[in-house]
Amino acid sequence: MPDVPLNTPTPQKIYLKDYTPPSFHVDNIDLTIQLYQDNAKVTATLNMTRKTAGDLVLLGRELQLESIHLNGQLLTENDYQLDSEQLVIKNAPDTCIINTVVTIVPQKNTSLEGLYQAGEGEDKMFVTQCEPEGFRKITFYPDRPDVLATFTTRIEADKKFPTLLANGNLIDKGDLDDNRHFAVWQDPTKKPSYLFACVMADLAVLTDHYTTIEGRDVLLELYAKPKNIEQCHVGMQALKDSMKWDEDNYGRAYDLDRYMIVAVSQFNMGAMENKGLNIFNTACVLSSPETTTDRRNFNVKAVIAHEYFHNWTGNRITCRDWFQLCLKEGFTVFRDQSFSADLHSPAVQRIDDVAVLKAHQFAEDASPLAHPPRPDHFVEINNFYTATVYEKGAEIVRMIANTLGKEKFRQGTDEYFRRYDGQAVTVEDLLSALSVSGTNVEQFLDWYTQPATPVVSGYWLKDDKNLTIHLAQKIRKVANYPEPKNLPIPVKTAIFNRQTGELVKEDLLLLTQSEQDFTFENLFNEHDFEPVISLLRDFSAPVILQFNYSDDDLAFLAEHETNGFNRWQAVQSLVNKILLNNQSSTAYLTALANSIPSLANSDAMLASRLLDLPSERELGSVIQQNYDPDFVKQQRDKTKQKVANHLKDFWQTAYTQLPIQDYQDTAKAMGERAWRNTVLDMVLCVNDGGANLDTASQWTTEQYHKATCMTERYGALVGAVQYNLPNKAELLADFYQRFKHDDLVMDMWFGVQASDESASVADIFALTEHGDFDINTPNRVRAVLGGLLSQPTKLWTNDGLVRYLDMMVVLDKRNPLLASRLLQGLSNWQTLVDDKKAMAKALLNDYQAKFESKNVKETLQNMLNVE
Ligand code: TRP
Ligand code: ZN
Repeated sequence: MPDVPLNTPTPQKIYLKDYTPPSFHVDNIDLTIQLYQDNAKVTATLNMTRKTAGDLVLLGRELQLESIHLNGQLLTENDYQLDSEQLVIKNAPDTCIINTVVTIVPQKNTSLEGLYQAGEGEDKMFVTQCEPEGFRKITFYPDRPDVLATFTTRIEADKKFPTLLANGNLIDKGDLDDNRHFAVWQDPTKKPSYLFACVMADLAVLTDHYTTIEGRDVLLELYAKPKNIEQCHVGMQALKDSMKWDEDNYGRAYDLDRYMIVAVSQFNMGAMENKGLNIFNTACVLSSPETTTDRRNFNVKAVIAHEYFHNWTGNRITCRDWFQLCLKEGFTVFRDQSFSADLHSPAVQRIDDVAVLKAHQFAEDASPLAHPPRPDHFVEINNFYTATVYEKGAEIVRMIANTLGKEKFRQGTDEYFRRYDGQAVTVEDLLSALSVSGTNVEQFLDWYTQPATPVVSGYWLKDDKNLTIHLAQKIRKVANYPEPKNLPIPVKTAIFNRQTGELVKEDLLLLTQSEQDFTFENLFNEHDFEPVISLLRDFSAPVILQFNYSDDDLAFLAEHETNGFNRWQAVQSLVNKILLNNQSSTAYLTALANSIPSLANSDAMLASRLLDLPSERELGSVIQQNYDPDFVKQQRDKTKQKVANHLKDFWQTAYTQLPIQDYQDTAKAMGERAWRNTVLDMVLCVNDGGANLDTASQWTTEQYHKATCMTERYGALVGAVQYNLPNKAELLADFYQRFKHDDLVMDMWFGVQASDESASVADIFALTEHGDFDINTPNRVRAVLGGLLSQPTKLWTNDGLVRYLDMMVVLDKRNPLLASRLLQGLSNWQTLVDDKKAMAKALLNDYQAKFESKNVKETLQNMLNVE
């Protein structure tokens, strides 16, 4: 039998327009995975049926083929063609039973794709990650999402791995010779191979039950290392809440008798929705008050919901091909965002979602990596799990949902589930089902197929009777894409009376032309008033708004808008005028002084968000040319200083009025903790020649030691580090001692030092030499490199870039997916000021030859815009 073949084909671009259905379907697959000390043997039996003319194609990568039988006949090398990507059988009969035996080496698989070993020694476990193309690293298979089959999986392993899991129901288990055992799992639902999963490990389990609206009793199991099992309760509750929420809001019930979640420390992304057996990055499932900040605790609930919601949007209805990725991801992100909004404050949820959208997706759309939510070509699909596919994808579904209204949207989603259950479909199919109510939303397709963020500009005019709002849209032409078309842009609008502060009118304007007038007739008939317009409430479309708001308008909206999101938006607009246009800060400071104190009492969480300054990185992504990181940092620091000094006495009083309270996981308590940390940050920032610093230091130290939960303790630690307090080293050492056995807290310990303003590039990279640094744990790598990314003044230096890129070279060989994603962090290099731009370009060019993976090569090539 041939060894692993050498003739590697050069990476090719794959086009959406070339889609053809598979020539063979798989009715069912019997899979046996025998795990041994140094490798694993995988035996697969595929029942295949011909659907169209063509070759029988089995995809496989890094597999050592031991034998292959077709309908009972052993095949020889002459019977098939094998290269490093696939095995092809020409002239195969119409029904085929294919049996293959392969050897794989999960112990040496550092890519965290396919079956891999996670952890060492006592912690060692084996898990799979198959989406999008990992299954072909386990066995030969038509590994594409439009091939749906039922799976029976037998796992055999040493008894030191008592936990043997796969998708579906456990139908058999027992002992084998040599201290080994086995388990057989059967998944009754047809699924694509990317949803396959199995686990061999030694884990503790937290169990619970949920009875569905259809009366099904579902066993819920959350698996984690024994020392972490107590951190699984939040996730378990979130799972039950999600199951209920999907029943209440979409009429969707769970369809198997068992739902399992497994926590693993080495994982490339957040989590994976494998049918009935989700696998989670520990960072997205473990949570306890002592070790987890409120933000991460909240994220845990959101990710649990996201993966659960995939059971309908993704698993039961899946994607025809990977170009349709946003069909499942965009829709599912929209669903988890809606769930989160119901869980605490809709306004704050929207603020947080939009902040992420602007910081990541708008940046991507403005960069050489810009692509449509549904791309039309790719080299490596892993490179397209992007903010555009996920976050912009979610925005499109949100626009459609708002355009249809609650009832019609529900009618549309009901129709989608009715029509396509059990199928692999396209974005067009979704839009056609959502149009069932008679309101046609197929016009939103263009949002899926073209890149770039639309710019909406406008102004308003008034006469004796009428108010007219004039809006225009403009979309940047992206190289290699056709001339952009106008898009349907829903603009949620409100009109206020400036004198009384009252809300006079609300409406949803739909901008579809390049320019349009919207007239509110007879608005001033009864009595005349001076209007203040508020546009894009709740961020009703993912666009950049350029409206001629005066400072007074924005200050008015910061105080009087009834839409919490637009209050925040108004303040952000004022900040951006200062940070980006160098305008005076008077209006901003006044607006804060007028709104913050009362808001702090009524909605502490929103108050803390109003004080958000866009991060340096986010500001960098807004500036389209001559971006000077040092100038941006100066402006930002100066502005923050002004806010701190302007309300100096208020911060002092506010902090003393906020005693530390016992931990509660409620929206109110979370708001108060966020607010306390914001106020502490302000107290620390006040610059009055040192008089204040002693108190501030003392408060910080006290908060650190008296903290009842991680949000408080970490808030204090960040303050001590960022403001370089005298006891900074002492607190960092204390934090290390307290939490050195908790990986996720250690990630925070690395992270806070990597984002320390007083750390040099050398200091940051010294962290990678620390005994607890681990190149095999993506969370740890991201903790350190993320710190540098958050400091553009250091990233965009020769030293910063060289060291960052050197790290990419190391990762490129071990974990291409991670390397490529981290490299995307440099994508806005083209907007830098000339000398920095030239330096970045030269370095990026130099490094091109050092990369091997198609993931990194494609990303770098796109970044350099070389075709
Ligand atoms: N489908 C997963 C989700 O969004 C994410 C995912 C895609 C993933 N590819 C992955 C997770 C690779 C881990 C590794 O829920
Ligand atoms: Zn997802």
